[in-house]
Amino acid sequence: MLKTILHRRSIRRFEQEQIAEDALQDILQAGLYAPSAGGRQGVIFAVCQNQSVNERLGKIKRANSHPHMATETSYVSKEQPSIADDPTITNAFYDAPTVITLFAPKNFLFSVDDCAVAAENMMLVADELGIGSCYIGQGWTAFADPYGQDILRQWNIPHGYYAVMQVLLGYSKEHDAHPASKPRKSHRILRF
Ligand SMILES: Cc1cc2nc3c(=O)[nH]c(=O)nc-3n(C[C@H](O)[C@H](O)[C@H](O)COP(=O)(O)O)c2cc1C
Repeated sequence: MLKTILHRRSIRRFEQEQIAEDALQDILQAGLYAPSAGGRQGVIFAVCQNQSVNERLGKIKRANSHPHMATETSYVSKEQPSIADDPTITNAFYDAPTVITLFAPKNFLFSVDDCAVAAENMMLVADELGIGSCYIGQGWTAFADPYGQDILRQWNIPHGYYAVMQVLLGYSKEHDAHPASKPRKSHRILRF
């Protein structure tokens, strides 16, 4: 397990080929079996493998994102550039073939926590299965225009739920050049 944790990196350059269905099922199971506050299991996983929908939502999200752009010394990833690293990227979902939006109740204190632990479970299983993943925060910004609102209706997202974040999945384009992790910052562990 530690080996997988150390190996997982955010992947943003994907092959167009769709991920295998049995791998997707395992990844979803990892999400379903994540811890949840009070054992409520409130997270809903909306799996979209429709390329045009994913592209349109990713573009809406990009248009609604205003990241601090990278500098020579401060950047997200040189190997797998994010929208903060490369202003020419127009799709905040990086053309990933599978985009899973995690929805959770608006009025629940632990919705973000529940989605985050589910997402990490999913990304670790994805890594074990040779599938690249990326966590995308502020999921609601992908739906913040009439097209996005229409998609929410089509998907029958229950009233009172909101898009917390997305997990992108796909085979890494640079399978042979898996990104290296940044060195860990020191002094982050306190022992008493
Ligand atoms: C809460 C959160 C939000 C994130 N949002 C984005 C995002 O919107 N776009 C993106 O490309 N990466 C996003 N990431 C991925 C981070 O950029 C990535 O985890 C970080 O740079 C460390 O790289 P690593 O995942 O390869 O270790 C997010 C990660 C977290 C935990």
